[in-house]
Amino acid sequence: MPVRYYCAVLLFPLAFVGGFVKALSIREMAEPVAVKFIFPQNHSTLSRSEVTVICMLTRVDSQGHSSLPELLINGSVQSWDEIFAQPVLAAHVRLTTGLNAVKVGNATLSVYVKGGSAKEPPKGWGELYSHPPTAKGQLQCTSCHAVEKQNGRLALGKALVPSACDKCHSELEFELKHHHPKQPMEQCTMCHSTHASSIKGLLKSAPKQLCARCHD
Ligand code: HEC
Ligand code: HEC
Ligand code: HEC
Ligand code: HEC
Repeated sequence: MPVRYYCAVLLFPLAFVGGFVKALSIREMAEPVAVKFIFPQNHSTLSRSEVTVICMLTRVDSQGHSSLPELLINGSVQSWDEIFAQPVLAAHVRLTTGLNAVKVGNATLSVYVKGGSAKEPPKGWGELYSHPPTAKGQLQCTSCHAVEKQNGRLALGKALVPSACDKCHSELEFELKHHHPKQPMEQCTMCHSTHASSIKGLLKSAPKQLCARCHD
């Protein structure tokens, strides 16, 4: 398990730092915070080093809270961007080219960033395509999701499909890219995995399968 070994070596010194994190870490050990990563995905290759780590806590206590897990990028603590109402956590971070360890609470994933003098990605770590940022930089979560203030925090709601997509993706572009009447294809997420996909064009599966939902 070369990857696990790599993480162990990298994270070992943190055990000492962790010792100072007193009660919190003890509680977390007793009841680990379960985390589901939305972006990035374990054992994948990215072509950009500036990314937004997004995850969801899948275990919260009876009041709907759990202690905020720490985010570590290659062993150094990073702050969460904006405190969303749970269960959503997001942080804009800069990864390094080559191997990176992203740790949230007790969950760790490894990703490889192309570029620089970085060697080849480990075997089987496919490219993970992600929705491009705009010319001005990162895409705001609110450009696609409904949000609501909740006790001073931002509660992230559903992605507004297709109204949000239509703000940036014109009818004309739709026609050029799909050669298809738009109306039956309005639910973009039927075919596109908007955050990330290992298939080009952010597709959820091969085009043939996507079309087969409605055509023979
Ligand atoms: C370009 C549009 C877009 C942007 C920008 C965007 N999202 Fe999303 N997000 C979606 C769509 C669409 C889905 C629904 C998943 C799907 O079917 O692909 C989704 C799903 C999610 C989910 C999973 C919800 C669930 O119940 O599984 C989370 C969490 C999330 N987004 C968080 C964020 C955060 C945090 C940001 C900002 C850093 C963000 N999103 C920015 C489009 C977007
Ligand atoms: C704030 C503007 C904005 C919003 C909102 C937005 N996009 Fe995009 N999207 C872009 C830009 C910019 C690109 C890159 C276009 C290019 O390179 O030609 C892009 C590219 C894409 C691509 C192609 C990605 C690739 O790998 O080539 C897909 C698919 C896509 N968007 C789907 C969506 C969907 C679905 C939504 C709604 C959930 C959405 N977008 C919302 C700006 C936006
Ligand atoms: C029935 C499936 C399907 C639906 C629904 C769909 N698309 Fe697509 N989309 C595709 C396929 C297939 C491609 C071609 C991908 C390629 O050429 O790599 C594509 C390409 C694109 C591209 C260009 C990607 C690139 O590589 O340049 C954008 C942007 C895009 N779609 C946005 C949207 C938006 C926005 C919606 C909703 C209004 C939508 N799509 C709905 C299947 C779909
Ligand atoms: C959600 C169902 C749905 C999906 C998925 C879908 N289609 Fe269609 N498609 C339709 C409907 C409905 C029509 C007829 C629309 C009309 O005439 O207004 C159509 C029409 C067409 C036509 C005739 C176009 C025209 O201008 O008359 C072609 C070609 C086509 N689809 C190909 C595809 C391909 C390729 C895909 C996969 C990328 C796909 N369709 C995915 C529902 C779908």
